[in-house]
Amino acid sequence: MLAKEVIELIESKAPKELALNWDNVGLQVGRLEKEVSKLGVALDPSLKVIEKASNLGVDFLFTHHPLFFKPINRVDGLVYEKLSLIFKNDMVVYSAHTNLDISYLNDALSSLYNLKDVEPLLDNGLGRIGTFKGSFEELLNITEENLTKPVVVGSCEEEEFKVAVLSGKGLTEELIKICKEKGVRVFISGDLTHHAKILAEDLDICLVDATHYHTEVYGLKKFIEELNLNFITLDF
Ligand SMILES: [Fe+2]
Repeated sequence: MLAKEVIELIESKAPKELALNWDNVGLQVGRLEKEVSKLGVALDPSLKVIEKASNLGVDFLFTHHPLFFKPINRVDGLVYEKLSLIFKNDMVVYSAHTNLDISYLNDALSSLYNLKDVEPLLDNGLGRIGTFKGSFEELLNITEENLTKPVVVGSCEEEEFKVAVLSGKGLTEELIKICKEKGVRVFISGDLTHHAKILAEDLDICLVDATHYHTEVYGLKKFIEELNLNFITLDF
């Protein structure tokens, strides 16, 4: 299979155009015409992942987080180490980031909790908001069984309540305020900080920190299954 054919398939489900303007999605390194035979997938293009990929003979590495966020004007240190391995193995590196969050990862979370009347949480398409039918304890069980044992702030007594989910880094003060304004009782996401926790307590909104990693890997696994292409998983 050619690299560009793998990319076409990915983009048929996670169109590049959906990505936010600060993002850097799509081809990161490599040749579109390369014949690829071993596909690898990882959440992050870390050095460990790239080393593992190169040891296993992976020639197409698909990641959620991009290899490059900002323009680079110097190739040394970690960047040098990563790029030399990528070049040595003639590897293609391709990333689907906010376009995958918007097209897939957030919906995977809202399906996991079986949310009803689901809408995007933010105007840019990130996150989902919907009604959860069940107890807070049931919601925590779903989290622990499918994502991870979460860090929990507050509790909720209702048997039906508004829930927001956002894959990755969501538990910021800014987003907690938006959730509160939208009547959210429980916000499930990742990357909780101390000050965000205090704000949530003051605003009486519950937080479930299921980690940046687990709120993204959950949907990424499902996405890979749907592609049906035999990816080797490298960091999950
Ligand atoms: Fe992320």
